[in-house]
Parts: sequence; structure tokens; C-alpha cells
Amino acid sequence: MKTVKIGLYGFGVVGQGVYEVLRKTRNAHAEIVKICVRSLDKVRKVEVPADLLTDQENEILENPEINLIVEVIDDAEASYRIVKGALERGISVVSANKAMLANHLPELIELQHKTGAALLYDASSCGSIPVIRNLEEYYDNDLLLEVKGILNGSSNYILSRVFDHQCPYEEALRQAQELGFAESDPSFDIEGFDALFKLVIITMHALGEYVAPERIFTYGISTIHDSDICYAREKSVKIKLVAQVVKVSDEHFTMFVMPEFVTPKKYIYSVDDEYNGVVIRGECYDRQFMFGKGAGSLPTASSILSDIMARLHDYRYEYKKSRFVDRPTYTTDILLRIYARYTTTPVPEILPFEKIYEQYYSAESNYLIGDVKLSELIAHREELRDKDLFLANIPQFFLNRD
Ligand code: HSE
Repeated sequence: MKTVKIGLYGFGVVGQGVYEVLRKTRNAHAEIVKICVRSLDKVRKVEVPADLLTDQENEILENPEINLIVEVIDDAEASYRIVKGALERGISVVSANKAMLANHLPELIELQHKTGAALLYDASSCGSIPVIRNLEEYYDNDLLLEVKGILNGSSNYILSRVFDHQCPYEEALRQAQELGFAESDPSFDIEGFDALFKLVIITMHALGEYVAPERIFTYGISTIHDSDICYAREKSVKIKLVAQVVKVSDEHFTMFVMPEFVTPKKYIYSVDDEYNGVVIRGECYDRQFMFGKGAGSLPTASSILSDIMARLHDYRYEYKKSRFVDRPTYTTDILLRIYARYTTTPVPEILPFEKIYEQYYSAESNYLIGDVKLSELIAHREELRDKDLFLANIPQFFLNRD
């Protein structure tokens, strides 16, 4: 069996995890030849021989011994430069950088076709859960209806702490950072962008369609307030940050990231802390559920190890679904039922609600529940970013099927 000679970019939480899991695994046939880091002097939890480290980006790309690049840095621009440079040289890559992938997938797919090099990235979406390869292979011929779930460990950790442990929001966020779940800029986690990037990648493998991140409505949890939590508790639901891609007809699918009221009967209701949960719904089997740790050093590294091993057998994504005829196209012309809590921002004036079911006013805060088009949420998204308001989706798809 051939041995994979790895050039590793990044030696932070995930990079050190990769080093550790490769040391633990006896059958890996994989060896790290060089590690590129930003600072050679930084003190790290995992000690490595000094001659393994370099701070010169090209030292890995130009090393003829290296036949696989593992890229786990959190700078999306540098990640793009490295991954593109490697693929152009015909070197295959394993990457975990969801922001980079979500923004450059079409070009990187094209490059793989052109150069024959492969790019694998199961670790980019849902940490240890093998969601990409399953969607790509197992669900290849399936009549998928929906892929929906909790794709961000940090925001889920925060919501669990706030909901179940009465922990203040800021303290929960600090813990998520300390535990190594959060991005270096945690606003990516709490504003929903991390989940959005993962949703873009997942959709590519679920439906064979690429939708650029800026076209997708994304709303996070940063403005959640005690009154939202009280409201949810009164209704016996939890609030979770949910990303979803849903076929709304044979011709169209929609997708968005939003906090959602989740009832106890749903699989994702019990997904707490840094765990992720993905529900896959199909024509023939109703629902299936994948559950696992979505963030953290070793869970993410285990997924990278799986991609490294897959490269030992020359595995690559074929993107077969993107060649299917009659693929559904993306639409935002659908009605969502939302909960909107606000004080001064005049939500009923900003958003043209088609129907309002509940409305409540008080001196401290107001809320309403009503139907509004997703396209209107996108059109008004900047006005909806005000600190004094919070939105949550009240799910309406497949209601009679659960
Ligand atoms: N910040 C990410 C999360 C890390 O919390 O899910 C894993 O992608």
C-alpha cells in the first residue's frame, strides 16, 4: 500500500488534533512530512520536532515528496491561495475551511476536473459527522427532499447553556471560545455564517447545486433575549440555530439559516452542547438522522483522518448530481412563518406580512407571529440586523409527516 506523505498547513486546535490522531492510528500509512505555521515560536499544547515546522508557505507546495496537503488554517484567503496552488500543481488536498470552500466551490471543482487532483472536505461540515461523503455516495440516487440540522457547534453550545443551565449568554460564548469550538472571529458562529457556509457545501452534494452564500438568508442568535427564551419555554419548545435546504416542489428548492422553534418530537430537539445533528429526508424513507460532535480538536481531526485514508484509495468526489438533468433550481419565493420580537424597530412596517396570527404589545417589548416571504426577509435583511429584534422560524414544511 502506498504511504501518504502529508504537508500540513495550520497547527492550531484542528492541526494539533490531526497530528494526535495520526499518532494514535496504527493503520494510517500516512506521515506528516512538514507543518507550515504562522509563528515558529508559539508555545503549543502538542510538541513536535522543530525540523518539522516551517513558516514558509511554499516549502510544502514545492516539496516533491509531499503527495497530499492537509489544510486546516482559519484564514479563508490564505486557505484559498494554498488550495488553489496545490490543485494547480496536481497535488490533492484535504481541507476543513468552510468559508473558503463555500465561496470558491465552482472554481475548485473546475480545477479538480482540469488537473486530476482531488479535494476532499468532509471535516468542513459538521465536524465528526460524515455528512458530505454520505450525501455524495449513499444518497446519490435518492429522492432527497430536505437536509436540515444544527451545523454549528458553538451556537448550539451557547443555546444549550443558556436554555438548560441558565448560563448568561456572554459567559456561554466565552466557554465556547475556551473549549476551542468557536471560530477566531466568533461572530461567524453566532450570526449564522459558519452554518451558512456548511449549508452551501452540503447543498452541492445533496442536490448538485451551488448557491453563493450572499444569496441566502442568514440570521443568527446574537440578539436572543430572556423574553424569547421565556416565550419558547411557555410553548414547550427549544430555540436552535437551524440550517436547511428543502425541496419545495419538483422544480424548486429553498435554503436559509435561522433560529427555529423546535418541538420535543424533532430529532434535533435533543442535540445539545457542541453536538451537531443532521436530518435527511427522502421520498422513500421519511427521515434519517446523523448525530455527532460538530466542533473541537479530535472530532474534526477524525474526519480529516477519514479523508486522508480515503485518498489512500484514490477516492474523490465525482459531483455526479451536478450533471443530473432536471435539477431543481433555487427559489426564495416561499412563505415562512416567523416569530419576530422587537421594541423600537418597526418590524410590521418593514416586512410585508401576508398574514398575522398573533400580536402582542407591551411597554418592554412586542412580538408577532406571521407569514412573510423569504425574498422579503432577504430584501430587508440589513434593517433586520438591529439589536432590539430577534427572529425565529416556525417550521411549516412536512408538518404532516412527523
Ligand atoms: N466554529 C465551528 C462550530 C467549528 O462551532 O461548529 C466547527 O466547524
